Amino acid sequence: MSDSRSDAIVLFGASGDLAKKMTFVSLYRLAVRGLLDIPIVGVAFSDWTDETFRENARADIEATGQTVDDAVWAKMAPRMSFIQGDYTKPETYAAVKAALADANAKKPLFYLEIPPGLFEVTVKGLHDAGLVSDPGVRVIVEKPFGHDYDSAVALYKSLASMLKDEQLYRIDHYLGKNAVQNIMVWRFANRLFEPIWNRDHVECVQITMAESFDVADRGSFYDRVGALKDVIQNHIMQVVGLLAMEPPSSTDPAHIHSAQLDVFDAMEPIEPKDYVRGQYDGYRKVEGVAADSSTETFVALRVNIDSWRWAGVPFLIRAGKALADTGTEAVVVLKQPPLDLFGKDRHGGAAPEPNWIRIRLGHNDGVQTRVQALDPSNSEHMDSTDVVMNVDFTSALSVEKLPYEQLLGDALDGNATRFATQPIIEGTWAALTPILEEPGPVHSYAIGTMGPKEADRLTEGLHPWIQPVSPASDQPA
Ligand code: BG6
Repeated sequence: MSDSRSDAIVLFGASGDLAKKMTFVSLYRLAVRGLLDIPIVGVAFSDWTDETFRENARADIEATGQTVDDAVWAKMAPRMSFIQGDYTKPETYAAVKAALADANAKKPLFYLEIPPGLFEVTVKGLHDAGLVSDPGVRVIVEKPFGHDYDSAVALYKSLASMLKDEQLYRIDHYLGKNAVQNIMVWRFANRLFEPIWNRDHVECVQITMAESFDVADRGSFYDRVGALKDVIQNHIMQVVGLLAMEPPSSTDPAHIHSAQLDVFDAMEPIEPKDYVRGQYDGYRKVEGVAADSSTETFVALRVNIDSWRWAGVPFLIRAGKALADTGTEAVVVLKQPPLDLFGKDRHGGAAPEPNWIRIRLGHNDGVQTRVQALDPSNSEHMDSTDVVMNVDFTSALSVEKLPYEQLLGDALDGNATRFATQPIIEGTWAALTPILEEPGPVHSYAIGTMGPKEADRLTEGLHPWIQPVSPASDQPA
């Protein structure tokens, strides 16, 4: 085991939804790969024993569709123990301390998969019990980190009085997606794309995060949050950082984070005129949602990055629930070539569609590039037609890792590259401040559409919104 590797993992919120859906299966997959041979301590209010903790964890792993290998489980299960506790009581932390001492663990990883309102009290409990004094101890917090700029700064100040910044790992599961991190590799490990990745060649960048499902049983959570804070401030802004960053001077996390931070330093605060909110019909009837709720379930925004590379190139972003399709994509739309040799300018045919590079993120991962080719069906003129060059990552790259498997493995190793940093989080909140203060009206939209028509005004003078390709298809939309 390397010196920097954690020697135990403690899960606060071990009976919660995230643990159920993501954590246990991710830990199990790390164990399958031989990367998890340390004690796993669960902490929660639930009235569980070690045995029920193990049984529930195994059932949760199987419920995700993952087959459990009895030999792997036979080694993992005995290392799992459970502490029933209240996060506000010192006894809970005393019990955690005793469990870690029994296991001779000195540099545990504490994973706070609990509501953000409990971060401070839990870190204080750990701190007062002397559990975070070793600089090799790490603490992971889940999103959201704050609910606006001021609260993110205040939360950090409070945590930083108890922990060193290097000990704090802020999870954004999008940063754990291979296809998301691949944006950086695609851009900087190839000669092909980077020379055109700038204002001279790019008309606009469009990012769509479409979800065809609705808020389901998350009404009371979602109604307090809304789409802007749920997915734009974190997931989508991190994607923007990767799409827009300059080449880092190395793959050292400090260099990568500094190149990403420059994007948010150059990002103009988003003006209310560049922001459209929507709410799907029937949302107000969802359990936990206020009958007069004005929370948005859809947002569209136009973001400007005032840098040498991107000045004048809008980043058009939309995300929503109960939409026509599920898919997250970034599409870099290129300008037209200087002359339309094969289209309408020459013989009255249709203008060709521009080239674009479509990066599919998180569902049906891959990259498509749309180009023009000679259309063999027209014998009278030389005409061009759209063709798509497609790379499907599932077949091209065989290894598949879950985002949380990647991130928990990284945190255990002390590798912070794929975690959000405080300056970047503050940068994203700063960009959103004007639209948080002046959110504007919420427009209704029918379920199964791509949001309210008002969003179309953001693309005026640019390529209209590009629909995500459905997961089963590789055809241009
Ligand atoms: C979560 C949001 O952070 O991300 C959810 O709270 C959203 O509302 C989810 O559905 C999307 O993640 P993914 O990985 O399914 O695209």
